[in-house]
Amino acid sequence: GAVAPSSLDLKTKTYPELVVGFAQIGAESEWRTANTRSIQDTANQLGVELALSDAQQQQENQIKAIRSFIAQGVDVIGVSPVVETGWDEVFAEVKQAGIPLILLDRNANVPDDLYSVRIGSDFVEEGRRACGEMARLLDGQGAIVVLEGTQGSAPMIGRGTGFQECLQSYPALHIIDSQSGDFIRARGKEEMAALLQKHGNSIDGVFAQNDDMALGAIEAIEEYGLRPGVDIKIVSIDAVRAAFEAMIDGKLNATIECNPLLGPLFFATALNLANGIPVEKWIKPDEGIYRQDTAAQELSKREY
Ligand code: AHR
Repeated sequence: GAVAPSSLDLKTKTYPELVVGFAQIGAESEWRTANTRSIQDTANQLGVELALSDAQQQQENQIKAIRSFIAQGVDVIGVSPVVETGWDEVFAEVKQAGIPLILLDRNANVPDDLYSVRIGSDFVEEGRRACGEMARLLDGQGAIVVLEGTQGSAPMIGRGTGFQECLQSYPALHIIDSQSGDFIRARGKEEMAALLQKHGNSIDGVFAQNDDMALGAIEAIEEYGLRPGVDIKIVSIDAVRAAFEAMIDGKLNATIECNPLLGPLFFATALNLANGIPVEKWIKPDEGIYRQDTAAQELSKREY
């Protein structure tokens, strides 16, 4: 980690001295693959040595990866915790080893002193925004089903909380059912098909906690013989390219952005931490809301 702080320049300099370990969740969604790509591309561009592990959605694999990064003596460790709880012990080991720890994207439910910084979205705000969009689309009235992400994960908990909180302002808007699709497209389709079997034509809106599950739900709604985006309004989260294509086709109504392009922020922060430079405890990317009316013009600008 012998990098002179004054030399921090992500555009033209390289940092071959820096060794970073990152424990990624897996490849469950388009968002996740864009996130992994951003980390790899930035590491290559900066010449940083990156040890990247794919936990295939298993917390125990992430814990193993973190322990192996400690054993390797990396300068900084990053992790996107697949679920919120169960991290105290391994994070304490990282702290004990004197290695700065960055929570990238998802947060963990641990005391503040067990990690250095979190870089990632405000999931509660994303849930509030999704509910605001749904209320607008349904004129504040109707029956909603929710396709939830991975149970116990920070985005599933945060988005659910924000959505519920905002629903308090709309007494005629109700969640009638929810199912977990694990942030996976095929699971979103499966769960939506089951919800349609159960509730039939009484569903007015779908809140999918990510775009992939919304794309799966769109297929299920079409197979059921209804028009997604018209008969059933759909709001999701992420703003991946395929969501813009679905909005252009009129099948998805709105998507709330959750930015996966965190590579540059991650390595800038890692360089600061490796040099003992203080950083904010929570670094949030800027994010927007996208609807059908601007989808075509936005699509060409999308980087993921
Ligand atoms: O943690 C971010 C979430 O994880 C994204 O919304 C989802 O697509 C991904 O799998």
